Amino acid sequence: MNVLNPGRLRLGVNIDHVATIRNARGGEHPDPARAAEIVAQAGGDGITVHLREDRRHIRDDDLERVQSATGLPLNLEMAATDEMLAIALRHKPHAACIVPEKREERTTEGGLDAAGLHNQLAPIVTRLTEAGIRVSLFIAPEARQIEAAMQLGAPVVELHTGEYAHATGADVAVELKRIADMAALAAKNGIEPHAGHGLTYENVQPIAAIPQLAELNIGHYLIGEAIFCGLEASVKKMRMLMDEVR
Ligand code: PXP
Repeated sequence: MNVLNPGRLRLGVNIDHVATIRNARGGEHPDPARAAEIVAQAGGDGITVHLREDRRHIRDDDLERVQSATGLPLNLEMAATDEMLAIALRHKPHAACIVPEKREERTTEGGLDAAGLHNQLAPIVTRLTEAGIRVSLFIAPEARQIEAAMQLGAPVVELHTGEYAHATGADVAVELKRIADMAALAAKNGIEPHAGHGLTYENVQPIAAIPQLAELNIGHYLIGEAIFCGLEASVKKMRMLMDEVR
């Protein structure tokens, strides 16, 4: 199931917001490459960065530095554009997660419409795959999106946990079940399911307990906690919470 380390739920740490803080003042501090080193020391299994069209956090020159800072696999989140495809093919990250991107959004608000965008996505998935990059599609936990990922030949889907993270009351269980059902559907069809968005110490365990999930990608909360307790401590605590339910 988990090709890099069978049985273990991987933690990919999204370090975009280290760059957000750096960019607030310009200059080089705090450096996302140093964050990557600390994530590696703390037991993170991968580094995730999102190179956005507007370069609001991660910049082009960060990619190589982050990639060479550790031996951890790099997961590049990218929009399905020719510009991003060229960058991915040049840097050859371990994985590329295709995400929807709107300039005006604060974060990646919804999943990719893999079903509606088949013709736009198909050549990008093919080119990335031919270059040896593991393609993931960031989708809402919906059966028709899993079916679209199958048609596109994507080996991985990342299930958007934002609705779960924002749910309250009885809706929490409803959203959790949607993710669990879609993780099972993906795995049954030979697609490795990952999950992420909006995960925190408080809400991570029910997600981490879904047996088919192979990887969680977590960013904003970990970097926010790092302000109070340090990045090593925040990654270690998340790792411990995930391990507790596996
Ligand atoms: N996965 C994907 C595909 C994302 O776009 C993001 C946000 O950049 C995350 C995971 C991490 O979300 P968060 O920062 O809310 O933990």
